[in-house]
Amino acid sequence: MSFNSKIKTIEWVDNVSRMIDQTILPKEFKLVDIKTCEEMYDAIKTMIVRGAPAIGIAGAHGVALAAIEAKKSVQTRKDFDKILKEKGEYLKSSRPTAVNLMWAVDKQLELLSEDCSIDEITQKLIDNAIVMENEDIEINKRMGDFGAEIVPKGATILTHCNAGALATVGYGTALGVVRSAYAKDPTIKVFADETRPRQQGASKKMIDVVITGADRIAANGDAANKIGTYTVAISAKYHNVPFYIAAPLSTIDRTIKSGKEIKIEERNREEVTHINGDWICSEKVNIINPGFDVTPNELIAGIITEKGILRPPFEESIKKAFEE
Ligand code: MRU
Repeated sequence: MSFNSKIKTIEWVDNVSRMIDQTILPKEFKLVDIKTCEEMYDAIKTMIVRGAPAIGIAGAHGVALAAIEAKKSVQTRKDFDKILKEKGEYLKSSRPTAVNLMWAVDKQLELLSEDCSIDEITQKLIDNAIVMENEDIEINKRMGDFGAEIVPKGATILTHCNAGALATVGYGTALGVVRSAYAKDPTIKVFADETRPRQQGASKKMIDVVITGADRIAANGDAANKIGTYTVAISAKYHNVPFYIAAPLSTIDRTIKSGKEIKIEERNREEVTHINGDWICSEKVNIINPGFDVTPNELIAGIITEKGILRPPFEESIKKAFEE
């Protein structure tokens, strides 16, 4: 299985953010150009771009787009910085759970501390967005290499939700690990859970290891990922199957102590009540439609990151990973 690095999920091209429109896959493959910060907000919110690492890069591109717009309308760095900070907060409010979005926007905004002209800072924000975009693929490949070590020979892996190339700039998080493991051992097999209605991402002693992605990981290792992950983790524990998370350090939110503090996105009720625009249940039914759940750290055997595999107790291993 080779990786076709020519196709990126999201890419900065000629001062626009070009991305695969994931709302029409798999029927249609179309690239869309996002030209403004407002368009980027909508692209994240409506899931044209989705998956925690990909959303992060979308946020970084969004700040660069905001800079290009602001440059046309303001005269001073003070006014420029004010607009950029407001647009950054606006972008961060497009979706609540995947912390990569907040991480990437903040990483861009940190550049505002540099004392330079509006033209120079705009160029720096564009350059940094491109660096972050390319680093995402490198980070995934490093995670893949570390993660391949925990996949036994000939193993059958279970994964849950979309954690492949499309959820990142390229290569993938959990599926990146599968990709790297497969390169060493083509006899491995994968079962991929999917969620409905968004097709994100079915056992009798068939699974050797579970690997999923994550959208936000607390300082104690509790991990939010697509709804249903917690159920998979409990079943894995019951059957003595190791459960791993594959996620870059940008998915770890050290400002929160535990998963209790993770804000879970509540999605539209129509995603449950309708299929292709048709009602599929009584109009009176009450709906709750959380997009994610939180797997407690005691169910997690390890967190595969670009710095290696973090093991329990996660408070310590996470802290150490950021210090190295
Ligand atoms: O489609 P989304 O953005 O709602 O899905 C988020 C995800 O992609 C996942 O939860 C995924 O498993 C972690 S990010 C690779």
